Amino acid sequence: MTNKAYTFIILAAGHGKRMDSGLPKVLHKIGNFSMLEHVIYNAKQLSPENIAVVVDLPLIEQLQCFEDIQLITQRSTLGTGDAVKTAMRSLTKLPDSSIVVVQYGDTPLIKSSTITKMVSSLEGKVLICLGFRASNKEYGRLVIKDGSLREIVEAQNGEDNDEEFLANAGIMVTYAKNLRELVGKIECNKLTQEYYLTDIVSIAAKSNLNVGYAITDEEEAIGINNRNDLAKAEFYFQESKRRFFTNSGVTLVALETIFFSLDTQIGMDSIVYPYVFFGPGVKVGSNARIGPFAKCEGTTIGDSAIVGNFVEAKASDIGMNTKIKHLSYIGNTKVGPGSNIGAGTVVCNYDGKKKHKTNIGSNCFIGANSSLIAPLNVHDDSVIAAGSVIVEDVPKESLAIARERQVIKKIK
Ligand code: UD1
Ligand code: CA
Repeated sequence: MTNKAYTFIILAAGHGKRMDSGLPKVLHKIGNFSMLEHVIYNAKQLSPENIAVVVDLPLIEQLQCFEDIQLITQRSTLGTGDAVKTAMRSLTKLPDSSIVVVQYGDTPLIKSSTITKMVSSLEGKVLICLGFRASNKEYGRLVIKDGSLREIVEAQNGEDNDEEFLANAGIMVTYAKNLRELVGKIECNKLTQEYYLTDIVSIAAKSNLNVGYAITDEEEAIGINNRNDLAKAEFYFQESKRRFFTNSGVTLVALETIFFSLDTQIGMDSIVYPYVFFGPGVKVGSNARIGPFAKCEGTTIGDSAIVGNFVEAKASDIGMNTKIKHLSYIGNTKVGPGSNIGAGTVVCNYDGKKKHKTNIGSNCFIGANSSLIAPLNVHDDSVIAAGSVIVEDVPKESLAIARERQVIKKIK
């Protein structure tokens, strides 16, 4: 990683009308994390000095979850150019020599490696933009002459021809000094009454300053303006996660049926069978087996553990070599190593108001079709008889049976 000081300015203000939603656009999720969380997560890979997010008032109310982030309020959303002007007015202490990455909150899949690549081509230039071949015409277009970027033309102003063009991904890399000077010169667009950040390219070019560009593909550069874009970005995200895991020693059987979150972790030689959904906060060890048909969320699964078919594990910690092979619900539960949770076991963790914890020790055997009523402790090496409803703690090395004794009556 480079030791240069980076500052990120992430534009996230404005509701995003084209989403038709009660939720601000950048809070819509891909891989179970908001677009804004994706952008911040990727920015943090580069250990920046500062991450400043431009927000408006409705968004600020919903952003309590973000730490280490400087929020800058844009009072009226007058366009991307106005958003960056507002940010630069707040970032008064930013040294001229700092590298600034301006990124849109609705382009969540831009990789940190691409940003590093853009930074490395900044030498001798005032600004680096990112272009890509887009499958639709709604993006701004890069106008390139003699290898350098002269202008970015917005879609409504551009000619509607079928010529190949590079679309503007939106992200820009520059130095604080250049950015301050260039955004100061952006004028209000007479047609739309907005200030376009993209105008800084022609402003620089007219002063004979050299603007460069890098190129990537739509899978990375997609911008999300509506629900169709959102669905497409989810698809691209899942494809890239699947590629990542199959390149990291994880077997995915029928990979198109397996869905990941931004933060899913899986260790080497684990196998994921078809139709598995990883919600946020899942960490799987090595040599584990998951699925088919399993849902995991907020859960750690130890090495060589098995979370089998039709098993749901939520907010739980499943020990090494533990088996939960069939049709179970495990919630707010810690299971030690080497235990066996029988088919149809249900942890009853919720009393209608609160969630309660269950602890199952090591080498326990929970008989099939048991209900474990939380809060509950089942200590090491104990056995629960099949079909039990367990309401009291089970001491170690004991057998608990909690069901009606079978009676046989003659009926004739
Ligand atoms: C923008 C670019 C376009 C590019 C595309 C890439 C401009 C003028 N156009 O168009 O060239 O191809 O992105 O996806 O920049 N925002 C603010 N404050 C504002 C307005 C917007 O913070 O006043 C934020 C939004 O939250 C959004 C981002 O800036 O995340 C981009 O705004 P949006 O309106 O989506 O721009 P596009 O029309 O997609
Ligand atoms: Ca957009």
